[in-house]
Amino acid sequence: MITIEKLIKKKQKNKKLSKKEICYFVDGYTNGSISDEEMTKLLKQICKSGMVEKETAFLTDAMLNSGEKLDLSSFGCCLDKHSSGGVSDSTTLLIAPIIASLNAKMVKMSGGSLGFTGGTKDKFQCFGANLELPFDKIKNIVNNVGAVIVCQTENLVPADKKIYALRDRTGTVSSIPLIASSIVSKKLASGAKIIVLDVKYGKGAFMQDLVEAKKLASLMVKILKRHKVLACAIVSDMNQPLGNNIGSYMEAKEVVEILKNNKDCRLLSLSKTISSILISKKEKISLDSAYKKVDEVLSNGKALEKLKEMVIAQGGNLKLFDEEKMSFNTVTSSQSGYIEEIDAQKLGELTHKLCNNVGCNGITVLCKVGDKVSLGDEIIRIFAPKKYSNEYAEKFLECFKFSKTKTYPLPLIYDIID
Ligand code: URA
Repeated sequence: MITIEKLIKKKQKNKKLSKKEICYFVDGYTNGSISDEEMTKLLKQICKSGMVEKETAFLTDAMLNSGEKLDLSSFGCCLDKHSSGGVSDSTTLLIAPIIASLNAKMVKMSGGSLGFTGGTKDKFQCFGANLELPFDKIKNIVNNVGAVIVCQTENLVPADKKIYALRDRTGTVSSIPLIASSIVSKKLASGAKIIVLDVKYGKGAFMQDLVEAKKLASLMVKILKRHKVLACAIVSDMNQPLGNNIGSYMEAKEVVEILKNNKDCRLLSLSKTISSILISKKEKISLDSAYKKVDEVLSNGKALEKLKEMVIAQGGNLKLFDEEKMSFNTVTSSQSGYIEEIDAQKLGELTHKLCNNVGCNGITVLCKVGDKVSLGDEIIRIFAPKKYSNEYAEKFLECFKFSKTKTYPLPLIYDIID
């Protein structure tokens, strides 16, 4: 007979768990027959001993089977992307309209902000969009517009909901098999057949070790492929904020500006790469050809029009951002030199705290690692009432490390695992 004590002992001896044993503890914890204490012991042991690919695949399946799966087959082949979470990462709001402009379909399930990272749900809501839509309405928007951004349904991978909450409380988040099964089960339940995963590496990400980030990316791709999903993972930089703006409102505003101006920046560059991989897989064309198509819908304004359509279909309005004069306060560089480090995590945490106050919309960071700055140069704009800006200015400045000797821009993409 399987018992939780036996499974804990088995992992202590570094033994592999069978499919039946994995289903036993996932189902048991989800239905309440295994307690928090027992599950914590097992999770801690999994963090220590790890799991091989096959065990992680069984764990993913057990979690996937704990709830409903979205059936998107009536839309043909749907595309999806996932970011493991970062600061100023608004790629979804750029990618969804880009790929819908190219006649591909996307039903994007999005969550709110988690810790210091921003959430697509919060940013899309800044356009006044409603993300809680019945399936009929989702279907209607996908058929007419091509892309829709919605909240994750209550019954999507309930096992992950319960296990992830426990991991968060018990310091057992940081485990490659646990992260991989958590992310991949939710992606599989969301029903897309072509998926690009964006695994963030760096000080502003879960994965702070490049080798581990690559291992996670590669494991997730393998498990998705077992389910016949065309999958690819990018390992991208999160050692500084991806875009220039932080805070849901400011990030939504930055997306509109990027689509209007089509000006090269790291956020657009990564979004173009992910969109191109998705389109190349869907249309079975080379990455270069897909890149050209993506470039075209950005330069001819189709992607911006598509974002407008998406927002209107979900009850919002892009005009919210038109011609708006927002007042801000400036933080200036405390020295001359080169930017050596920007602490993305701390910037994210500070901005989230700032945005909890009435009238605070976020910040704009005006430099990147490798930039040369002079004493007194403007490096941050704080879009908040003066009393808050004054309180936060010094703390924001502490997120920057300066160097007297030349520093260099950080890479954007470290690896693509196909
Ligand atoms: N994101 C998830 O959805 N799950 C994890 O375990 C970590 C990040």
